[in-house]
Amino acid sequence: MLESLKTILSAAREGHYAVGAFNCLSVEHARGAVRAAEEEKSPIILQLAEVQFPCAPIELMAPVYLELARQAEVPVCVHLDHGQSFETCARAIKLGFNSVMFDGASLPFEENARVTSEVVRMAKAVGVDVEAELGRVGDAGTDEGKDLKDAFTDVGQAGLFVERTGCDALAISIGNLHGRYIATPKLNITRLKELKEALSTPLVLHGGSGTSREDFKSCIHNGICKVNVATTLQLAVMDAVKEYVSSGNTSYIDMKGVIESATEKQVRLFIDLFESSGKV
Ligand code: 13P
Repeated sequence: MLESLKTILSAAREGHYAVGAFNCLSVEHARGAVRAAEEEKSPIILQLAEVQFPCAPIELMAPVYLELARQAEVPVCVHLDHGQSFETCARAIKLGFNSVMFDGASLPFEENARVTSEVVRMAKAVGVDVEAELGRVGDAGTDEGKDLKDAFTDVGQAGLFVERTGCDALAISIGNLHGRYIATPKLNITRLKELKEALSTPLVLHGGSGTSREDFKSCIHNGICKVNVATTLQLAVMDAVKEYVSSGNTSYIDMKGVIESATEKQVRLFIDLFESSGKV
């Protein structure tokens, strides 16, 4: 069933677990992810980022996500990831997404708060929830190894930001990066604890791929309620397809099944790690 971000994340916050938000770029990807959630009896978030529109157009993916959500036996939220403008958020909402992220993290604080507030006002008018971002989550390709402390989410600013914007979830920066890390990152759990203490808003960890098991556990036991994963899923699917083809298989139809199963297997591992199994 289609469920709101707010409902899914407030249960996660109360229950001290996190819900996986998976960037799904094809029908097989999305079906595999929902099947995993059904097998695990877990809520799930299907998401698509604006930078992914060229390979998975939102107009094509929206009906797929929404129909899968409606048919699912578990709560499914259909979420826009990293919307880069007010207009993109409005476009996703018009297509039926029941949750959007406006990512103004690269903007000055005032500008980020102003545009986020406008998105929240528009989204709330039609019953849609909003995730925002404060502090910058960089890219493993360009930012790994750099001192990122200045990009970390500031506790005082976060309180002000949430109060001013009324966002339903906040993506934070604690040393996490998007993409493929070379070395395993070490997240700043002290900053996370401070943010949890100061805010009642569910917190979101972006850049889930490559995070150590230990850091994941510390995150979900200290206020992270949503974890975004993209790269690991893509790599798992690529490996499965490579193996399928190199073993001499030639059926395209069966290969679609391989993609679905590889996604399902990987998503089940994350659901188990995030402790959301059996929560529905
Ligand atoms: P990864 O590709 O590092 O898993 O990050 C996904 C993400 O944060 C999407 O918003």
